[in-house]
Amino acid sequence: VLGGSGYAGQELARLLAGHPELELAAFMGAREGSGRHPAEEAASSARARAAEPLDWARVGDAEGVFLCTPHAASAPLAARCLELGVKVVDLSADFRLRDAALYERVYEHRHPRPELLGEAVYGLTERARERVAKARLVANPGCYPTSVLLPLLALLDAGLVDRARPVVADCKSGLSGAGKTPSERTHFGNVYENFCAYGVGSHRHGPEIRQECGLRDLVFTPHLLPAFRGILSTLYVAAAAGARAADLRAALARAYAGERFVRILERGLPDLRAVQLTNECRIGLADATDSAESGGTVVLVSVLDNLVKGAAGQALQNMNLMLGCEESAGLA
Ligand SMILES: NC(=O)c1ccc[n+]([C@@H]2O[C@H](COP(=O)([O-])OP(=O)(O)OC[C@H]3O[C@@H](n4cnc5c(N)ncnc54)[C@H](OP(=O)(O)O)[C@@H]3O)[C@@H](O)[C@H]2O)c1
Repeated sequence: VLGGSGYAGQELARLLAGHPELELAAFMGAREGSGRHPAEEAASSARARAAEPLDWARVGDAEGVFLCTPHAASAPLAARCLELGVKVVDLSADFRLRDAALYERVYEHRHPRPELLGEAVYGLTERARERVAKARLVANPGCYPTSVLLPLLALLDAGLVDRARPVVADCKSGLSGAGKTPSERTHFGNVYENFCAYGVGSHRHGPEIRQECGLRDLVFTPHLLPAFRGILSTLYVAAAAGARAADLRAALARAYAGERFVRILERGLPDLRAVQLTNECRIGLADATDSAESGGTVVLVSVLDNLVKGAAGQALQNMNLMLGCEESAGLA
Protein backbone atom coordinates (compact mmCIF):
# COMPACT_ATOMS: atom_id res chain seq x y z
CA VAL A 1 0.00 0.00 0.00
CA LEU A 2 1.40 3.40 -1.00
CA GLY A 3 -0.25 6.42 0.64
CA GLY A 4 -0.84 4.39 3.79
CA SER A 5 -1.13 7.45 6.03
CA GLY A 6 -4.45 8.55 4.50
CA TYR A 7 -8.00 7.39 5.15
CA ALA A 8 -8.16 4.93 2.24
CA GLY A 9 -4.74 3.46 3.07
CA GLN A 10 -5.74 2.95 6.69
CA GLU A 11 -8.91 1.20 5.54
CA LEU A 12 -6.84 -1.15 3.39
CA ALA A 13 -4.64 -1.99 6.39
CA ARG A 14 -7.80 -2.94 8.29
CA LEU A 15 -9.10 -5.14 5.45
CA LEU A 16 -5.78 -6.79 4.59
CA ALA A 17 -5.20 -7.75 8.23
CA GLY A 18 -8.06 -10.23 7.80
CA HIS A 19 -7.16 -11.44 4.30
CA PRO A 20 -6.70 -15.21 4.08
CA GLU A 21 -4.30 -15.19 1.09
CA LEU A 22 -2.61 -11.81 0.66
CA GLU A 23 0.21 -10.63 2.84
CA LEU A 24 0.73 -6.92 3.39
CA ALA A 25 4.40 -6.80 2.44
CA ALA A 26 4.83 -3.04 2.62
CA PHE A 27 2.71 -0.23 4.04
CA MET A 28 4.34 3.00 3.03
CA GLY A 29 4.05 6.71 2.45
CA ALA A 30 4.20 7.73 -1.17
CA ARG A 31 6.62 10.66 -1.17
CA GLU A 32 10.34 10.45 -0.70
CA GLY A 33 11.00 11.03 2.98
CA SER A 34 7.38 10.62 4.09
CA GLY A 35 6.18 7.94 6.47
CA ARG A 36 7.35 6.97 9.91
CA HIS A 37 9.59 4.17 11.04
CA PRO A 38 7.66 1.34 12.79
CA ALA A 39 9.58 2.10 16.01
CA GLU A 40 7.79 5.44 16.12
CA GLU A 41 4.41 3.73 16.09
CA ALA A 42 4.44 3.10 19.82
CA ALA A 43 4.80 6.82 20.40
CA SER A 44 1.70 7.60 18.35
CA SER A 45 -1.53 8.21 20.25
CA ALA A 46 -3.62 7.39 17.18
CA ARG A 47 -4.84 3.87 16.53
CA ALA A 48 -3.65 4.31 12.97
CA ARG A 49 -1.13 1.96 11.47
CA ALA A 50 2.09 3.86 10.81
CA ALA A 51 3.21 4.08 7.20
CA GLU A 52 6.88 3.32 6.65
CA PRO A 53 9.14 5.45 4.45
CA LEU A 54 8.84 4.79 0.72
CA ASP A 55 11.29 2.09 -0.40
CA TRP A 56 11.11 1.22 -4.10
CA ALA A 57 13.20 -1.94 -3.75
CA ARG A 58 10.50 -3.46 -1.54
CA VAL A 59 7.71 -2.16 -3.77
CA GLY A 60 9.31 -4.08 -6.62
CA ASP A 61 9.05 -7.33 -4.65
CA ALA A 62 5.27 -7.04 -4.36
CA GLU A 63 2.76 -8.63 -6.72
CA GLY A 64 0.30 -5.76 -6.52
CA VAL A 65 0.22 -2.18 -5.28
CA PHE A 66 -2.69 -0.09 -4.07
CA LEU A 67 -2.12 3.60 -4.76
CA CYS A 68 -4.00 5.54 -2.07
CA THR A 69 -2.64 8.84 -3.30
CA PRO A 70 -4.15 12.01 -4.79
CA HIS A 71 -4.69 12.55 -8.50
CA ALA A 72 -1.58 13.86 -10.29
CA ALA A 73 0.62 12.07 -7.74
CA SER A 74 -0.78 8.64 -8.62
CA ALA A 75 -0.04 8.44 -12.35
CA PRO A 76 3.80 8.66 -12.11
CA LEU A 77 3.74 6.17 -9.22
CA ALA A 78 1.59 3.81 -11.30
CA ALA A 79 4.00 4.06 -14.22
CA ARG A 80 6.95 3.20 -12.00
CA CYS A 81 5.12 0.22 -10.45
CA LEU A 82 4.23 -1.12 -13.91
CA GLU A 83 7.87 -0.77 -14.99
CA LEU A 84 8.77 -2.91 -11.98
CA GLY A 85 6.26 -5.54 -13.12
CA VAL A 86 3.82 -4.84 -10.27
CA LYS A 87 0.06 -4.72 -10.89
CA VAL A 88 -1.69 -1.52 -9.82
CA VAL A 89 -5.07 -0.56 -8.45
CA ASP A 90 -5.13 3.24 -8.36
CA LEU A 91 -7.71 4.75 -6.03
CA SER A 92 -7.24 8.24 -7.43
CA ALA A 93 -8.96 9.74 -10.45
CA ASP A 94 -5.86 9.66 -12.66
CA PHE A 95 -6.99 6.80 -14.89
CA ARG A 96 -10.78 7.07 -14.62
CA LEU A 97 -11.43 9.51 -17.46
CA ARG A 98 -10.48 7.97 -20.79
CA ASP A 99 -9.92 11.29 -22.57
CA ALA A 100 -6.74 13.18 -21.58
CA ALA A 101 -8.22 16.49 -22.75
CA LEU A 102 -11.28 16.02 -20.56
CA TYR A 103 -9.00 15.07 -17.65
CA GLU A 104 -7.03 18.28 -18.18
CA ARG A 105 -10.22 20.39 -18.13
CA VAL A 106 -11.67 18.66 -15.07
CA TYR A 107 -8.50 18.30 -12.97
CA GLU A 108 -6.84 21.49 -14.21
CA HIS A 109 -3.44 20.05 -15.06
CA ARG A 110 -1.94 17.99 -17.86
CA HIS A 111 -2.26 14.24 -17.50
CA PRO A 112 1.13 13.01 -16.20
CA ARG A 113 1.05 9.68 -18.11
CA PRO A 114 -1.61 9.84 -20.87
CA GLU A 115 -0.04 6.86 -22.66
CA LEU A 116 -1.40 4.59 -19.91
CA LEU A 117 -5.03 5.74 -20.27
CA GLY A 118 -5.74 3.24 -23.04
CA GLU A 119 -4.95 0.18 -20.97
CA ALA A 120 -6.50 1.23 -17.65
CA VAL A 121 -9.70 -0.66 -16.81
CA TYR A 122 -12.47 1.22 -14.99
CA GLY A 123 -12.94 -1.11 -12.05
CA LEU A 124 -16.62 -1.04 -11.16
CA THR A 125 -16.12 -4.67 -10.24
CA GLU A 126 -19.60 -6.11 -10.78
CA ARG A 127 -19.68 -4.59 -14.26
CA ALA A 128 -16.08 -5.25 -15.37
CA ARG A 129 -15.05 -8.51 -13.74
CA GLU A 130 -13.46 -10.22 -16.74
CA ARG A 131 -11.52 -7.14 -17.84
CA VAL A 132 -10.33 -6.42 -14.29
CA ALA A 133 -9.03 -9.97 -13.91
CA LYS A 134 -6.79 -9.50 -16.97
CA ALA A 135 -5.68 -5.94 -16.19
CA ARG A 136 -2.28 -4.62 -15.09
CA LEU A 137 -3.76 -1.24 -14.21
CA VAL A 138 -7.21 -0.67 -12.69
CA ALA A 139 -8.76 2.74 -12.11
CA ASN A 140 -10.83 2.30 -8.99
CA PRO A 141 -14.09 4.23 -9.41
CA GLY A 142 -14.99 7.27 -7.35
CA CYS A 143 -17.18 6.81 -4.29
CA TYR A 144 -20.15 8.86 -5.56
CA PRO A 145 -19.95 7.27 -9.05
CA THR A 146 -20.03 3.75 -7.56
CA SER A 147 -23.24 4.54 -5.66
CA VAL A 148 -24.88 6.05 -8.75
CA LEU A 149 -23.62 3.72 -11.50
CA LEU A 150 -24.46 0.38 -9.88
CA PRO A 151 -28.23 1.04 -10.03
CA LEU A 152 -28.23 3.29 -13.09
CA LEU A 153 -26.23 1.07 -15.48
CA ALA A 154 -28.43 -1.94 -14.76
CA LEU A 155 -31.59 0.08 -15.46
CA LEU A 156 -30.13 1.50 -18.68
CA ASP A 157 -29.14 -2.01 -19.82
CA ALA A 158 -32.70 -3.16 -19.21
CA GLY A 159 -34.09 -0.28 -21.33
CA LEU A 160 -36.17 0.99 -18.41
CA VAL A 161 -34.94 4.61 -18.37
CA ASP A 162 -36.50 7.36 -20.49
CA ARG A 163 -33.26 8.83 -21.90
CA ALA A 164 -35.04 11.95 -23.14
CA ARG A 165 -35.60 13.15 -19.59
CA PRO A 166 -32.94 14.10 -17.04
CA VAL A 167 -31.65 11.77 -14.36
CA VAL A 168 -31.04 13.51 -11.05
CA ALA A 169 -28.38 12.13 -8.69
CA ASP A 170 -28.80 13.87 -5.34
CA CYS A 171 -25.91 12.53 -3.27
CA LYS A 172 -24.77 12.96 0.32
CA SER A 173 -21.41 11.93 1.73
CA GLY A 174 -19.81 11.73 5.14
CA LEU A 175 -16.74 13.92 5.45
CA SER A 176 -14.13 11.15 5.24
CA GLY A 177 -14.78 11.37 1.50
CA ALA A 178 -12.67 14.52 1.53
CA GLY A 179 -9.56 12.78 2.92
CA LYS A 180 -7.59 13.49 6.07
CA THR A 181 -6.53 17.09 5.45
CA PRO A 182 -9.04 19.47 7.05
CA SER A 183 -10.38 22.48 5.23
CA GLU A 184 -12.73 25.28 6.18
CA ARG A 185 -15.66 23.29 4.74
CA THR A 186 -14.79 20.02 6.49
CA HIS A 187 -13.78 21.57 9.80
CA PHE A 188 -15.79 20.28 12.78
CA GLY A 189 -17.16 23.74 13.44
CA ASN A 190 -18.70 23.86 9.98
CA VAL A 191 -19.91 20.27 9.76
CA TYR A 192 -21.40 19.76 13.21
CA GLU A 193 -25.19 20.32 13.18
CA ASN A 194 -24.93 21.61 9.63
CA PHE A 195 -25.69 20.36 6.11
CA CYS A 196 -24.75 21.84 2.76
CA ALA A 197 -24.54 21.24 -0.97
CA TYR A 198 -21.20 21.84 -2.67
CA GLY A 199 -19.60 21.55 -6.09
CA VAL A 200 -22.98 22.06 -7.79
CA GLY A 201 -22.42 21.66 -11.52
CA SER A 202 -18.66 21.46 -11.06
CA HIS A 203 -17.83 18.40 -8.93
CA ARG A 204 -15.23 16.20 -10.64
CA HIS A 205 -17.32 13.06 -10.26
CA GLY A 206 -19.96 14.47 -12.65
CA PRO A 207 -17.90 13.89 -15.83
CA GLU A 208 -16.90 10.44 -14.54
CA ILE A 209 -20.54 9.40 -14.04
CA ARG A 210 -21.56 10.81 -17.43
CA GLN A 211 -18.65 9.06 -19.18
CA GLU A 212 -19.68 5.68 -17.77
CA CYS A 213 -23.46 5.92 -18.25
CA GLY A 214 -23.41 7.85 -21.54
CA LEU A 215 -26.17 10.23 -20.38
CA ARG A 216 -25.49 13.90 -21.03
CA ASP A 217 -28.54 15.08 -19.15
CA LEU A 218 -27.56 13.92 -15.68
CA VAL A 219 -27.65 16.38 -12.80
CA PHE A 220 -25.25 15.45 -10.00
CA THR A 221 -25.36 17.38 -6.73
CA PRO A 222 -23.15 16.34 -3.81
CA HIS A 223 -23.83 17.29 -0.19
CA LEU A 224 -21.72 17.09 2.94
CA LEU A 225 -23.27 15.07 5.76
CA PRO A 226 -22.39 15.64 9.41
CA ALA A 227 -21.19 12.02 9.61
CA PHE A 228 -17.77 10.41 9.17
CA ARG A 229 -18.44 7.58 6.70
CA GLY A 230 -21.12 6.64 4.21
CA ILE A 231 -22.80 7.86 1.03
CA LEU A 232 -26.52 8.01 0.43
CA SER A 233 -27.47 8.79 -3.16
CA THR A 234 -31.06 9.52 -4.07
CA LEU A 235 -31.67 9.02 -7.79
CA TYR A 236 -34.67 10.42 -9.63
CA VAL A 237 -35.13 8.43 -12.82
CA ALA A 238 -37.86 8.85 -15.44
CA ALA A 239 -39.12 5.36 -16.18
CA ALA A 240 -39.48 4.31 -19.82
CA ALA A 241 -43.06 4.41 -21.11
CA GLY A 242 -45.28 1.95 -19.26
CA ALA A 243 -42.63 0.87 -16.75
CA ARG A 244 -43.35 1.03 -13.04
CA ALA A 245 -41.20 0.89 -9.95
CA ALA A 246 -41.85 -2.85 -9.61
CA ASP A 247 -40.39 -3.43 -13.10
CA LEU A 248 -37.27 -1.46 -12.22
CA ARG A 249 -36.86 -3.35 -8.97
CA ALA A 250 -37.22 -6.68 -10.79
CA ALA A 251 -34.60 -5.63 -13.36
CA LEU A 252 -32.15 -4.65 -10.62
CA ALA A 253 -32.79 -7.89 -8.76
CA ARG A 254 -32.08 -9.86 -11.97
CA ALA A 255 -28.94 -7.86 -12.77
CA TYR A 256 -27.43 -8.39 -9.34
CA ALA A 257 -28.78 -11.85 -8.48
CA GLY A 258 -26.02 -13.80 -6.76
CA GLU A 259 -23.84 -10.73 -6.20
CA ARG A 260 -22.27 -10.73 -2.79
CA PHE A 261 -21.80 -6.98 -2.48
CA VAL A 262 -24.88 -5.51 -4.17
CA ARG A 263 -28.20 -6.03 -2.48
CA ILE A 264 -31.57 -4.97 -3.89
CA LEU A 265 -34.14 -4.53 -1.14
CA GLU A 266 -37.54 -6.10 -1.74
CA ARG A 267 -39.15 -3.34 0.25
CA GLY A 268 -38.14 -0.27 2.21
CA LEU A 269 -35.18 2.05 1.75
CA PRO A 270 -31.65 1.51 3.06
CA ASP A 271 -29.83 3.82 5.43
CA LEU A 272 -26.13 4.46 6.05
CA ARG A 273 -25.83 2.40 9.17
CA ALA A 274 -26.74 -0.75 7.24
CA VAL A 275 -23.55 -0.54 5.18
CA GLN A 276 -20.97 1.28 7.31
CA LEU A 277 -17.75 -0.78 7.57
CA THR A 278 -19.02 -3.22 4.92
CA ASN A 279 -18.30 -3.60 1.21
CA GLU A 280 -22.00 -3.63 0.37
CA CYS A 281 -24.02 -1.33 -1.82
CA ARG A 282 -27.71 -1.53 -0.90
CA ILE A 283 -30.38 -0.21 -3.19
CA GLY A 284 -34.05 0.41 -2.49
CA LEU A 285 -36.85 1.89 -4.59
CA ALA A 286 -39.86 3.95 -3.66
CA ASP A 287 -43.06 3.11 -5.49
CA ALA A 288 -43.62 6.70 -6.60
CA THR A 289 -44.66 5.58 -10.12
CA ASP A 290 -47.76 4.08 -8.59
CA SER A 291 -49.00 7.46 -7.37
CA ALA A 292 -50.70 9.89 -9.71
CA GLU A 293 -48.37 12.81 -8.96
CA SER A 294 -45.10 11.05 -9.75
CA GLY A 295 -45.27 11.58 -13.53
CA GLY A 296 -43.45 8.29 -14.01
CA THR A 297 -40.44 9.23 -11.90
CA VAL A 298 -38.93 6.45 -9.82
CA VAL A 299 -36.96 7.31 -6.70
CA LEU A 300 -34.04 5.03 -5.87
CA VAL A 301 -31.85 5.17 -2.79
CA SER A 302 -28.34 3.69 -3.00
CA VAL A 303 -26.06 3.53 0.03
CA LEU A 304 -22.48 2.42 0.58
CA ASP A 305 -19.49 3.11 2.79
CA ASN A 306 -17.30 5.54 0.85
CA LEU A 307 -14.13 4.14 2.43
CA VAL A 308 -15.04 0.51 1.69
CA LYS A 309 -17.18 -0.16 -1.43
CA GLY A 310 -16.41 3.44 -2.44
CA ALA A 311 -12.62 3.02 -2.08
CA ALA A 312 -10.53 0.37 -0.26
CA GLY A 313 -13.08 -2.47 -0.38
CA GLN A 314 -13.74 -2.23 -4.10
CA ALA A 315 -9.98 -1.82 -4.64
CA LEU A 316 -9.43 -5.10 -2.78
CA GLN A 317 -12.22 -6.79 -4.78
CA ASN A 318 -10.35 -5.73 -7.91
CA MET A 319 -6.90 -6.74 -6.64
CA ASN A 320 -8.28 -10.15 -5.64
CA LEU A 321 -9.39 -10.71 -9.23
CA MET A 322 -6.09 -9.45 -10.67
CA LEU A 323 -4.06 -11.80 -8.45
CA GLY A 324 -6.34 -14.81 -8.88
CA CYS A 325 -7.75 -14.81 -5.33
CA GLU A 326 -11.38 -15.34 -4.37
CA GLU A 327 -13.09 -12.01 -5.22
CA SER A 328 -14.57 -11.61 -1.74
CA ALA A 329 -11.42 -12.59 0.19
CA GLY A 330 -10.76 -10.20 3.07
CA LEU A 331 -14.15 -8.56 2.60
CA ALA A 332 -16.45 -10.91 4.49
N1 LIG B 1 -11.75 9.14 1.10
C1 LIG B 1 -12.59 8.53 0.29
O1 LIG B 1 -13.75 8.26 0.63
C2 LIG B 1 -12.14 8.13 -1.10
C3 LIG B 1 -13.05 7.41 -1.90
C4 LIG B 1 -12.65 7.04 -3.18
C5 LIG B 1 -11.42 7.42 -3.67
N2 LIG B 1 -10.57 8.14 -2.88
C6 LIG B 1 -9.29 8.52 -3.45
O2 LIG B 1 -8.28 7.76 -2.82
C7 LIG B 1 -7.08 8.54 -2.71
C8 LIG B 1 -6.69 8.64 -1.23
O3 LIG B 1 -7.78 9.23 -0.54
P1 LIG B 1 -7.75 9.49 1.02
O4 LIG B 1 -9.12 9.91 1.40
O5 LIG B 1 -7.09 8.37 1.71
O6 LIG B 1 -6.80 10.79 1.07
P2 LIG B 1 -5.95 11.34 2.30
O7 LIG B 1 -6.57 10.91 3.58
O8 LIG B 1 -5.79 12.80 2.04
O9 LIG B 1 -4.53 10.61 2.13
C9 LIG B 1 -3.71 10.91 1.03
C10 LIG B 1 -2.47 10.05 1.05
O10 LIG B 1 -1.66 10.40 -0.07
C11 LIG B 1 -0.40 10.94 0.39
N3 LIG B 1 -0.04 12.09 -0.44
C12 LIG B 1 -0.57 13.33 -0.42
N4 LIG B 1 0.00 14.09 -1.37
C13 LIG B 1 0.94 13.33 -1.97
C14 LIG B 1 1.86 13.55 -3.03
N5 LIG B 1 1.94 14.72 -3.65
N6 LIG B 1 2.68 12.54 -3.40
C15 LIG B 1 2.60 11.34 -2.80
N7 LIG B 1 1.74 11.07 -1.78
C16 LIG B 1 0.91 12.05 -1.38
C17 LIG B 1 -0.63 11.33 1.82
O11 LIG B 1 0.61 11.24 2.49
P3 LIG B 1 1.12 12.26 3.62
O12 LIG B 1 0.68 11.65 4.91
O13 LIG B 1 2.59 12.24 3.41
O14 LIG B 1 0.46 13.57 3.33
C18 LIG B 1 -1.60 10.25 2.28
O15 LIG B 1 -0.93 9.05 2.54
C19 LIG B 1 -7.39 9.92 -3.33
O16 LIG B 1 -6.99 9.93 -4.67
C20 LIG B 1 -8.91 9.98 -3.24
O17 LIG B 1 -9.49 10.81 -4.20
C21 LIG B 1 -10.90 8.50 -1.60
